[in-house]
Amino acid sequence: MQTRSVLVTGASRGIGAAIARALARDGWFVFAAARTESAVDALAREIGSSGGRAEGVVLDVGDVTSITHAIDRLKDRDLTLDGLVNNAGISPSAPLVHAGEDLVAKLMRVNFDGPRRLIEAFLPEMKRQKFGRIVNVASSAGLRGYKYVSAYCASKHALVGYSRAAADELEGSGVSVACVCPHYVDSPMTEETVQRLVGKTQRSEADVRAFLAAQNPGGRLVTVDEVAAAVVDLMRDGRNGWLVELDGASSKVLEKR
Ligand SMILES: NC(=O)c1ccc[n+]([C@@H]2O[C@H](COP(=O)([O-])OP(=O)(O)OC[C@H]3O[C@@H](n4cnc5c(N)ncnc54)[C@H](OP(=O)(O)O)[C@@H]3O)[C@@H](O)[C@H]2O)c1
Repeated sequence: MQTRSVLVTGASRGIGAAIARALARDGWFVFAAARTESAVDALAREIGSSGGRAEGVVLDVGDVTSITHAIDRLKDRDLTLDGLVNNAGISPSAPLVHAGEDLVAKLMRVNFDGPRRLIEAFLPEMKRQKFGRIVNVASSAGLRGYKYVSAYCASKHALVGYSRAAADELEGSGVSVACVCPHYVDSPMTEETVQRLVGKTQRSEADVRAFLAAQNPGGRLVTVDEVAAAVVDLMRDGRNGWLVELDGASSKVLEKR
C-alpha cells in the first residue's frame, strides 16, 4: 500500500508531538514541523527508531516567508502531501482591552492565518488527487469564551468557522476537513498557564493544576494521547465536517455529516 505523507505543525512538544507519534504508528510518513529544529529532528529520530517514518521540518506558521520556504522544500522533492494537521498554536492571556494590537495580530497570525495559509497551499494538489485529510486543532475556546483570553478565543473561533465553511465547500471532493476542540490538556502550554497563575495568585502549583482540571467538565486534564487518538480517527476515516470536543470525560462528536 502507498505510504501517505502528513505535515503536523507544532510537533516539537505537547499535543503535536503526540499526534506525530500516533500518525507514524498508523503508517503515515510524518513531516514534524515547528520552529525548534533540534526538537523536531529528535522527534523524527525517535519515531524512526521505533519503526515509523518521519522527518523534521523547520516552520514558523506565523511567518509567511517561513511557510513559503517549507512548502517549496516539500514541493521540490516532488512530494504530494496527503494530510495536514494544523496544531501549532500560542495562548498568551490579557484582560479585555489590554491585549493590544500586536498581541491580537500575533494570535490571529499563528492560530488562524497559519492554518489557513497551509490549507490554501496544499489544497489544490489534494483536490487534484481527490484525497486529502485536514485536521485543525482548535480548542474549547473555539466553542465558548473564557476570561482573560478573548483574543485566543477569537482566533480559535475563527479556525472553527473557517473549518466549517471549508468542509461544506469540499464535501464530495475527497478532501476532508475536521476540528478537534480539547479543553485544558496536560501539556507544556498548560504548564505555562500554571506557572503564570502561581506567580499571580501565590497559590501552590498543585492547587492551580487542580483548579484548571476542575474547569474541565470531566474534572481532569485531557491527555495529549487522547487528542492524538481523536486526530488519528478523523484522519483514518476522512471525516469531513466533524467537530470533536474532548472535555476530560469523553470524546464528543458535536457535529458530523
Ligand atoms: N494545552 C491546552 O490546554 C490546549 C487546549 C485546547 C487546545 N490547545 C491547542 O492545541 C495546540 C497545541 O497545544 P499544546 O498544548 O501542545 O501547546 P505547547 O505545548 O505550547 O506546544 C505548542 C507547539 O506549537 C509550536 N509553535 C508555537 N508557535 C509556533 C509557530 N509560530 N510556528 C510553528 N510552531 C509553533 C511549538 O513549537 P516551537 O516553539 O518549537 O515552534 C510547539 O511545538 C495549540 O493550537 C493549542 O491552542 C491546547
